[in-house]
Amino acid sequence: MLNQKDIIILAIESSCDDTAVAICKNGKIICNKVASQAIHEQYGGVVPELASRAHQSNLVPLVDVVLKQTGIELPMISAVAYTAGPGLIGSLMVGSSFAKAMAMSLDVPLIGIDHMQAHILAHFIDDPKPTFPFINLTVSGGHTQLVLMKSEFDAEVLGETIDDAAGEAFDKAAKILGLPYPGGPLIDVHGSKGNPNAFDFPISQLPGLNYSFSGLKTSFLYFINKQKTQYPSFVDEHLSDIAASVQHAIVEQLLIKLKLACKQVGITQVALSGGVSANSYLRKRFADMGIQLGWTTYIPDFQYCTDNAGMIAIAAWFKYLKGQFEPLTASPYARK
Ligand code: KG4
Ligand code: ZN
Repeated sequence: MLNQKDIIILAIESSCDDTAVAICKNGKIICNKVASQAIHEQYGGVVPELASRAHQSNLVPLVDVVLKQTGIELPMISAVAYTAGPGLIGSLMVGSSFAKAMAMSLDVPLIGIDHMQAHILAHFIDDPKPTFPFINLTVSGGHTQLVLMKSEFDAEVLGETIDDAAGEAFDKAAKILGLPYPGGPLIDVHGSKGNPNAFDFPISQLPGLNYSFSGLKTSFLYFINKQKTQYPSFVDEHLSDIAASVQHAIVEQLLIKLKLACKQVGITQVALSGGVSANSYLRKRFADMGIQLGWTTYIPDFQYCTDNAGMIAIAAWFKYLKGQFEPLTASPYARK
């Protein structure tokens, strides 16, 4: 049931290889849909040109599905939100052009959202919600950041990766093992059946709150190649233990720095978000660490961990309340 005062935000996310559309009604996500792009699997990674083209063909039908499913008609929409960046510029331009055209034709405000901020604001979709200030570990395919959140849009980056992102580390490890792209979720599946201490992979000793995963990747590559030369069936025979051990090395580094950041800032409200927060081993270790250290911990529901438009919609809701709109001349950005 819709009354005249309802605020309906249509949100579009197209920063990488997932086309996503969501609707926020008065601060609640009432529909959240994703169309993934299988085309990249055969190339072992996202091909930007193909991603843009797939967004182009997926977006209009997906918006249609979302509107039909919610019973929302175009004149009911109060604002249109889109991911402004960071991401693949061609992909971002498909989403932003669509959002601008829609906002203009409906004569409603346009709201641009930062993808990384949205990953954090995903915590405000469902209860329980964190209270400010809190520390968020954002782990995705493109970023790994420790962020001190002071309010919805006041964020201080305390540390970040100096090379690969945690998701990249998962995906590259999977590729070395011959698993298809995106390999992160497959490392999770195989790793859950293995022993995390079966093999010893290095954990970066970088001082401070920054992360580094390139040393682990190189050492993992050399180890696997050497083993395969001696025992060609090494990976097949030990896949679960290898996956569990490399997963352990990635997660260990993530949590060591998170613990340090919380200690340094003196904070016990701690949150985890981004695609890699879908990882079951990380979720368990994070929750256990929280219990051990007396933290109150937060992880978004699965559908709001990996790329989605629900997180764009909730971030847009906060901007809508503040009247923070964008002109139609705004352009997306590939990086900050
Ligand atoms: O946030 P996201 O969907 O997209 C970016 O903003 O990058 O994150 C995607 C990343 C990929 O690297 C993917 O392999 C990883 O998240 N990922 C996982 C799992 N699910 C997604 N990594 C490990 N375990 C998972 N279950
Ligand atoms: Zn993301």
